[in-house]
Amino acid sequence: MPLRQPALQAHDAGTAPALSAAVRMDAPRTAPPTPHPAWGARELWLRLAPVLPGIGVEVLAEVDSTNSELLARARHGRRAADLAPCLLVAEHQRAGRGRLGRPWRTLPGGALTFSLALPMAPRGWGGLSLAVGTALADALDPPDDGAPSRIGIKWPNDLWLLDARGGGRKLGGVLIETSGAVVPRWVVVGVGINVLPRQVDATEFSTGYGCLREIDPHATAPAALATVVEPLARALRLFEADGLAPFAARFAARDLLRGRTVTTSGAEGATGVADGIDEDGALSLRCADGLRRVSSGEVSVRLAGERATPAGSAC
Ligand code: BTN
Repeated sequence: MPLRQPALQAHDAGTAPALSAAVRMDAPRTAPPTPHPAWGARELWLRLAPVLPGIGVEVLAEVDSTNSELLARARHGRRAADLAPCLLVAEHQRAGRGRLGRPWRTLPGGALTFSLALPMAPRGWGGLSLAVGTALADALDPPDDGAPSRIGIKWPNDLWLLDARGGGRKLGGVLIETSGAVVPRWVVVGVGINVLPRQVDATEFSTGYGCLREIDPHATAPAALATVVEPLARALRLFEADGLAPFAARFAARDLLRGRTVTTSGAEGATGVADGIDEDGALSLRCADGLRRVSSGEVSVRLAGERATPAGSAC
C-alpha cells in the first residue's frame, strides 16, 4: 500500500493562520498553533501545480472546517473564474461538517481532513462525488487483478473499508459544496478519511468505523494525502472535460450497494435492490413498483440490517 510517509521535505512550510498586526492587550500572548512539518507542503504543490496551475497549498493546525473556510474566501472574493485553486489541509477541525448538515467529528491526528477548491465548468454536476470517491479509492487501494478490493464506495459519497465476509465499515466521506450562480462555479471538495481507529469521545471507543491503519499499519494522514491529492486533482479535471463516463467502470467495481436491499431516507423513502447508477450518477433502485431513480440531493441510503447513524456523528 502506498500510504507511507515520504521523506520529510527540506522546504516544508505549512501556512500558519495570519497574525493580526495590532496586538490586543487583553488577548492571550500565545502564538497560534503551527502544523507539524511532515505534510510536505512544497512537495504537494509540486504535484498539483501542473494539474491546477496557480494553486496555493496551506496546512493549518486547526480551523473550524476546511470546507467552510474555502467557501467563505470565495464569498469575500471575486468571481470563481478569478479565484486560484487552493488545497487547504487541517490537522484538526473544530466544527467539521458532513453531508445533510451532520457534524463530522475527528480528534487531532486521527483523520486526514482537507478540501480542494477550484473553479469548475462541467457540462453537468451529477456523479461528481462518485468520481471523487473512485479516484480516492483507486489511489489508496490500487486495483489489483485477483486481489479483492479493500475499499468500496457506498453511494453517494462514502468510502467503506470492506471485510472478507462482504460487510464493511465507513472509512471516510466526501462533502462537495459549490458557490456562485454563474459558470464556472467555485467548487469545494471536502474529504475526511479516518487514519486511526476512531474515538467518538474521550471514553467511548467506536468499532463502527474503519481506518487506514487496518490496511497499512504505518499509514499517516500526511502520507495518505500525498497518495490521493494528485489523482484527485486529475479526476476533477477529467470529470470537467468528460463527465462521469470515464469513472463508471471503476466505480462499478467498488459499488458497495449493487445487488443489496437498501432503504432511502427523505420524504419519498423507498426500499429496493440497488442496481448500479445511471450516466448522471443517480442510483437505480429495483422496487416492488418498478425501477426508481434516486438522486443524491437530500437522500441517503441504508443497507438492510445496517445500524442507524450514531447520534451526533456523520458516519
Ligand atoms: C460525510 O461523510 O458526510 C462527508 C464528510 C466530509 C468531511 C470533510 S473533512 C474536510 C472537509 N471539511 C468539512 O467540514 N467537511 C469535509
